[in-house]
Amino acid sequence: MGSEDNNLKSVRNSTFQQRKWCGIIHEYGDFISVEGEKINIEPVTLLEGNTPLIESVCLVKELKDMGFSGKIYFKYEGLNPTSSFKDRGMTVAITRAKQIGARATICASTGNTSASAAAYSARANLPVFVVVPEKNVATGKIVQAVAHGARIIRIKGNFDDALKLVRKISDDFGLFIVNSINPWRIEGQKTAAFEVCDALGFAPDYHFLPVGNAGNIYAYWLGYKQYKAIGRINETPKMFGFQAEGAAPIVRGYPIENPETIASAIRIGNPANWEKAELAVKESDGLIDMVSDEEIISVYRFMGEKEGIFCEPAPCAGIAGLIKMVKNKKIKMKDIVVVCTLTGHGLKDPEAALNFIKTKQFFVEPKFNEIKKIIEEEIKKSKEKDLEMELQRS
Ligand SMILES: Cc1ncc(COP(=O)(O)O)c(C=O)c1O
Repeated sequence: MGSEDNNLKSVRNSTFQQRKWCGIIHEYGDFISVEGEKINIEPVTLLEGNTPLIESVCLVKELKDMGFSGKIYFKYEGLNPTSSFKDRGMTVAITRAKQIGARATICASTGNTSASAAAYSARANLPVFVVVPEKNVATGKIVQAVAHGARIIRIKGNFDDALKLVRKISDDFGLFIVNSINPWRIEGQKTAAFEVCDALGFAPDYHFLPVGNAGNIYAYWLGYKQYKAIGRINETPKMFGFQAEGAAPIVRGYPIENPETIASAIRIGNPANWEKAELAVKESDGLIDMVSDEEIISVYRFMGEKEGIFCEPAPCAGIAGLIKMVKNKKIKMKDIVVVCTLTGHGLKDPEAALNFIKTKQFFVEPKFNEIKKIIEEEIKKSKEKDLEMELQRS
């Protein structure tokens, strides 16, 4: 072998060799416990976690024009095994179900919990029942539950109705509930905050995320507090949660009977973790506010077209919230670090993409000149658009 080959081999063996990632229980198991109890069996894992923290290139520029300076990162939880943050909580909840010898699992869901519960229950060889609204569950999420062999029960009602029923059924039949009212779920989800701090080397100044049943904002807060308590970080971030205007019970201060929003993952009118979310916000000196569906859709398009990141509509509520706060100068504006959690992947909800993103499909004859004409026109249009943006900026 020549010296060049030897060099390549040594580079491969050192710099590029990745540490083996074995899932969040292996990584953070020492920090996971409920009432003094720990996970003490081999984890049921799909190697969830270790998701990227991607620095914003375009949103940060837009906000700069409004007087913001600093860095914005996206914690892309859509890259978990079932494409949402739920997998962090689910590996812990399902492992716990195994540990205590549960005979089956059950959850209510707007879609992502059911997909995750189905996958992890399948892996644990546990029957799983998912109770979801008959309408308004994104196709990708139902398809996942189908693929993993879940028993899918669809009710003529919304998520809140489903959760009420599931609470009762799980009590009556001794099924293991894997919604975020289960503290093991929250214990798993808090590991995302650990990862953010491990990646940055410190905690961000602000953390923005969408709020539905309100477990995740509380979980992140627990994670940050725990890291501070053991000296891994010096400060904790302010937690900023955002609901959709038509499904904003915490902001309005009362349950919403018929919640409505295009962000189906957060179409929840009576969050089970309401008080916990308020506690997180109070302790961190943060805020829970709301954004309109129009603002959510606008961010949804922006993320795909400008940042190159496809997420489902719900996480766009958190980013729309950041834009709202910067516009109204409701947060510190200079030299700050912000993290926004992108809770679910865009492929979960193909209907949203087809309904809300302007399609640029051209149906033509298979002829060279027809395609050439389209390319020339489109390049011209995008140059004109870039120029217009530059003019607006200057
Ligand atoms: C993609 C996505 N984002 C946000 C949420 C809301 O999270 P939480 O219920 O913990 O507030 C959910 C919940 O289903 C979700 O699926």
